[in-house]
Amino acid sequence: MYDEKDVWHDWLTRDLHQHESDLGYSQNQRIINSFAKRAIDNARLEKNHTLLDAGSGEGTVSFLAIDEIGPSLNVILLDISQQLLELSKRTALSKNVLNQCAFVKAPMNSMRTIADNSVDRIITRASLAYVDNKINTLQEFLRVLKPGGMISLAEPIFQDAAMNVALQKKTIDFQIGTLGKSDADKVLIHRWQSTQFPDLIEEINAIPFINFSERDLVRWSEQAGFSQIHMEFHMDEVRLIDTSWESLLHSSMHPLAPKLSQVLEDHFSQVEQDVLRELLLPKNGSHSLTAKTHMAYLTAYKA
Ligand SMILES: C[S@@+](CC[C@H](N)C(=O)[O-])C[C@H]1O[C@@H](n2cnc3c(N)ncnc32)[C@H](O)[C@@H]1O
Repeated sequence: MYDEKDVWHDWLTRDLHQHESDLGYSQNQRIINSFAKRAIDNARLEKNHTLLDAGSGEGTVSFLAIDEIGPSLNVILLDISQQLLELSKRTALSKNVLNQCAFVKAPMNSMRTIADNSVDRIITRASLAYVDNKINTLQEFLRVLKPGGMISLAEPIFQDAAMNVALQKKTIDFQIGTLGKSDADKVLIHRWQSTQFPDLIEEINAIPFINFSERDLVRWSEQAGFSQIHMEFHMDEVRLIDTSWESLLHSSMHPLAPKLSQVLEDHFSQVEQDVLRELLLPKNGSHSLTAKTHMAYLTAYKA
């Protein structure tokens, strides 16, 4: 799943936005920008710094940082997707900041063209999460950072959501044979959730972007050799503005999960789809629906 070259390009540029209303789009951008802004604030960037945006995607972090610090900031946008690097190059051109940007296609655990002790700050926003060997990647970050340099991570934590799905499965399995009508609704919702996260603990533990907590990030940073490690874990309930069925159909719980429309087509009969729609949409004419975000913000220094 991770090796498919354009998974990320398709997610960021097409899947996430194609069927979104303007409202849904601005809602998502606002949430993503707030994560990126916090990572940038935590990084304490200064004039003339070189920032490595590891797993840069469309360049959200890089362009916000340039807006904030101005023309003296140099940014290296590093990603495994050539298409996303090209897209961000076009954005840099249109923003007239191309001279401040370098574009590197490389996996973040092996950034061969980036010299030892050469960057002041490294920011990741929802990108380290997807890497298999995080200690190895943090060691690579340590190699390219200048002494006194700093990492600022803003990474989603999916472990709690996945564990809840696994727990729900255990509860349902335990009650089989005694399930009533309201339990049938629970089972239907669980069938949808288990297409987003595996519902067996062994499978959860085998998937790199799900199998870790904020505490693991702290432990791995220590093991990699970082000092002055600081972790803030934020859980926020976010009120969604666009809660139309159309918008829900094109949503998924994380970038690598199938969209609800695909799940319905593949796993649910028409009758079940109608019931699930009633269960998922806001009740009593209310337009309000909430989602929970779980974000780990870590900063640490190279001594
Ligand atoms: C969810 S997107 C986040 C993009 C960006 N950081 C942002 O804030 O919008 C994850 C990004 O990480 C990149 N990525 C995934 N695995 C990577 C790896 N091993 N090395 C470098 N980039 C990677 C993907 O190509 C994608 O652009």
